Order: sequence, then structure tokens, then C-alpha cells
Amino acid sequence: MSGGGDTVNFLVRPSSVHNAECRVPGDKSISHRALMLSSLADGVTEVKGFLDSADCLATQSALAALGVTIESVGDMISISGLGARGFKTPDIPLDLGNSGTGLRLLTGLLCGQHVTAELTGDSSLRSRPMGRIIDPLVRMGASVKSNNGRAPLRVTACRELVGMTYVLPMASAQVKSAILLAGLGAKGSTTVIEPAPTRDHTERMLAAMGADIDVDGLSVTLHPGGTLQPVAMEIPGDLSSATFLIGAALLGNNVELVIRGVGVNPTRTGVLDILRQMGGNIELENSRLAGKEPVADIRVRSSQLLGIEVDPSLVPLAIDEFPMLFALAGCASGETVFSGLEELRVKESDRISAMADGLRALGVSVVESDDGARITGGSLTAGVVESRGDHRIAMSFAIVATRAAGPVRIRDVSNVATSFPGFAGLCRDLGVDIEETLNGG
Ligand code: S3P
Repeated sequence: MSGGGDTVNFLVRPSSVHNAECRVPGDKSISHRALMLSSLADGVTEVKGFLDSADCLATQSALAALGVTIESVGDMISISGLGARGFKTPDIPLDLGNSGTGLRLLTGLLCGQHVTAELTGDSSLRSRPMGRIIDPLVRMGASVKSNNGRAPLRVTACRELVGMTYVLPMASAQVKSAILLAGLGAKGSTTVIEPAPTRDHTERMLAAMGADIDVDGLSVTLHPGGTLQPVAMEIPGDLSSATFLIGAALLGNNVELVIRGVGVNPTRTGVLDILRQMGGNIELENSRLAGKEPVADIRVRSSQLLGIEVDPSLVPLAIDEFPMLFALAGCASGETVFSGLEELRVKESDRISAMADGLRALGVSVVESDDGARITGGSLTAGVVESRGDHRIAMSFAIVATRAAGPVRIRDVSNVATSFPGFAGLCRDLGVDIEETLNGG
């Protein structure tokens, strides 16, 4: 797509998706967990529907550097687990690229496995807060050094970790999972108590692999002991990726789009609740299970969206979908009020500010607050938007640009490949007038 140093942009012209059926790539959160947990399993795990995006491939390379053999054929991968305590000391720093999930979960896992390693990432990841995992891991007995609470992190094998009860200060599935993965190698039980429900893929996968794990409301307890057992895994389509296509269909010209085989775990479906409250016509069909994860086909019909006050209790259940929700609020009639979103400021970019600036560049009125924004929907003008190197900002503007009065250029979009390889091609197949251009083009 790009030569070294080139900036890739999207150029989107007014257009609409047409009536169609499609699929989206595998779930990013589940793909990361499949790699990490099967690396500890006692035997070979086959994973179907694995997301071969830059984020997951960075985790895959890190595990390879730790001695794990991973083979892939198409979207099928097989991971030869090393069992508990089988990792070798890596010869190189583990580079997790843009991936907070990769860095935070792997740090927790390595602390419990008595491995010495350095974990790092790109400039966005190196600017994100890591104190939230370092504090609990150190309380369990780990040695984790950082650059003032930021990556690079250095994990040093020292004494055996001891399980504990930890009350999470923020709703974060990454922090919860980092502690539970450390707990796999600790002496005694580890309990994590969340302030609100967050995605529970780690808990579901650990249970499927035979771990002794209890969930009681907002409290999760892992009792270590025994080796994880390999189980065949099928990874559903990523609802966070499907959200962009749902948005495109809602904004389309009287169209109906069916997205097949999408993960609809109730800790992820806040976006569907919010969009329905805004007037979105969205139905789930063929509900089924893939292993322990709920899956369905999603049928979306174009709808006139209305501004609402978004219930802050839905925030952790829709955490990655707010860029698209902000963009859709820009096209809704009336005002949409978002609050409780302070975590958005420490994602791949400051997503409140990135969305507010981008929407303003397209003529939408946005009043930003510390933890949210008030967006007055209306018509969008042509213009130029900065993605700030954030995949979800880039894709949200690519979709909403279909409703603008003229061409919209979205700058610096190559990180779309971290979560949704093939996004532009799929959008084009569905009818979106989208081009990938280089530099000023
Ligand atoms: C994720 C948890 C969320 C989410 C991220 C993926 C995970 O992060 O934003 O994209 O896979 O556990 P936080 O735990 O920081 O909220």
C-alpha cells in the first residue's frame, strides 16, 4: 500500500452502501487471548477465524520470541503450547506495536511465568498509562520497571507471585485480564473486583480451557493449579469492526445490510443499545454460540438517527465504539450528549479531542468536556480530517464522509491495518466511494 515514510490517506466521496451481505474479520480481543492462553496450554490449539491484523501479529511475534511455535494457513492458526513455565527468555525486546491489549496482557502473563523481558511499542503505545497494570502486578510480587509509568516495561523474573484481591480503580478489561493472567502463575487465588462489567473474553476462554475460575457479579476469582487444556477455537467477527459497517448502512440510501457471524457477547453490545435508542433499525438473527462466545448475524436498515443523552452506564460496554457514535451523532437530528468517557482520552489517541476536531473540520458543532462532548447533528461539509494515527478515528470519518456535501480527505490511515485489514476494499465492494491515496493525494 505505501512505500517507506509515505503517509496513506483515505479520500471519500458522497456515496452509499447498497443492499448486501458481508462478514468482518475476526475479533481482536479474542484473537489476542487465543494466542496467549493457547501458548500456555498443554498441546496444540487450532484457531479458526484468527484476526491477522498488525496488532495480533505483533503479539504473535512476541510469543514466537518467547519460544512458542505458531503456524498459520489462511485464517487458521495452530499454536503449540509450552505448558506452564515453558517460555524462554527472549533475545530481543518484545515490540507490541500499537496494541495496548498486547502489551498489558502479555506483561501480566510474563510476570506469572517468571520470564525476564522488555516490552515496548510504537510512540502512541509508549505514551499510554501503564501504572494501572504495574501497581497491581507489583503488589502480587512482580518486578516491573517502567519509564515513568509508560513503556518500555522491563519484567524481571524474581520470586513467585502471590494471589490477591484487587479492586480495580477503573473499568478496564485489559487491567482485569493482566491480573488474571499473572494469577495463573501465582500461589493462591487471585480475585479482581470491577467497578462495572467489562468484556469477559478472558474469563470465558479460561473456563473453556479448564481453568478453575468463578464469576460472581463484578467479582472474578481464579484458583491456579493444573495446566490449561487446548480446545478448538472459532473466533467470531469483531463487533467493533462491524460497527463501521453498521454505521454505513444506517447512513445509507434506504438500504439493508446483513453482517454474518459477529460476536455479540453482552459485555460488548452497548453500541447496539445506544444506536437503537438513537432510532437505528438493527436486528440480531441466527443467535448461536462459538465455543463460549455468543454470535449472531446483524441486519441493519438505513434509519433517521435522533440525538439522545447517552447513558454513561453503557460506556464500558461500548468503549471502542465511541468514535463511530460521535461521527453518527454528527449526522443525527438534534443534540447528542456523551459523558463518562474519560478513558477515551488514553486510547490509541485522545479520542474525544480527535473526534471533536475532525467533526468541527466538517462543519459540525461540538462542545467538548473533560469526559465527553455535546454534538449538534446536521449536515457535513467537505474537508480534511486528521486521524492522529488512530485506526478507529480514521474508519469513523471514512464512514461518515459518505454523507458529506463533498470529498473528505482523512489523513494518516495506515493504522487501520491494526484492527481491520481490508477495510477500504470491503467498503468499496459495498458501494462506498473510497480511495487510498499517498501523501498529499
Ligand atoms: C480491550 C479492552 C479495552 C478496549 C481495547 C481492547 C481488551 O481497553 O478499549 O480495545 O481486549 O481487553 P481498556 O481495558 O483499556 O478499557
